[in-house]
Amino acid sequence: MIRGKYVTLRGLELIDAPEIVRRYNDLEVRRFLLSVVPISLEEERDRIKRSWELRRKGEYYMFGIELNKPKRLIGTCGLERVSHIHRRAEVSIAIFNKTYWDQGLGTEATQLLLHFGFNLLNLHSIWLAVFEDNRRAQHIYGKVGFQRVGTRRQAIFRDGRYIDMYLYDILAEEYRHQLERGTA
Ligand SMILES: CC(C)(COP(=O)(O)OP(=O)(O)OC[C@H]1O[C@@H](n2cnc3c(N)ncnc32)[C@H](O)[C@@H]1OP(=O)(O)O)[C@@H](O)C(=O)NCCC(=O)NCCS
Repeated sequence: MIRGKYVTLRGLELIDAPEIVRRYNDLEVRRFLLSVVPISLEEERDRIKRSWELRRKGEYYMFGIELNKPKRLIGTCGLERVSHIHRRAEVSIAIFNKTYWDQGLGTEATQLLLHFGFNLLNLHSIWLAVFEDNRRAQHIYGKVGFQRVGTRRQAIFRDGRYIDMYLYDILAEEYRHQLERGTA
């Protein structure tokens, strides 16, 4: 477990699947994720089981985001496409319970992922992709030290039109520099 002040990143259990399915099938949550197609309970159970296999191989570390008080699963996040040759990984995150948006919890969960990636997995670079209109997510990525490094133009078809996908990354040395300055 990776414990922060307000949230803890923990392994997912099959028993978490119903809450995840119920919340992720809310289109307001899914509209900023890659698939808008609703998921079933069985699919979510499979996804959790597959994430355990990938974790054993060191390719994907998926966590539940649990509120510390009261203990409650409010989202999931992870480092995926982990390459131990290039020492890089991609961030994914969603606070699927909207009641908890805009309370600083996504920021803390992202900081915990960076700590996990840089300090525990010894990664060199962590990156992510975010939709052009997902201003809330872009705000937190900038706040924790990611830089916008590129654009995949018209990469996503949503709501009847193509939108851009922005690429962000942060290097280990930048992360460490921020820690020294006390801003991470
Ligand atoms: C994106 C997400 C993880 C952020 O988590 P969160 O807990 O709501 O984020 P936080 O409360 O830590 O921070 C939100 C920040 O965005 C700001 N914000 C909110 N709406 C905003 C907007 N429209 N434009 C700019 N900033 C905005 C808030 O003021 C806050 O900043 P502050 O703390 O400096 O005041 C969460 O909203 C979510 O899961 N959304 C749906 C799925 C998703 O978008 N995942 C990311 C895919 S790349």
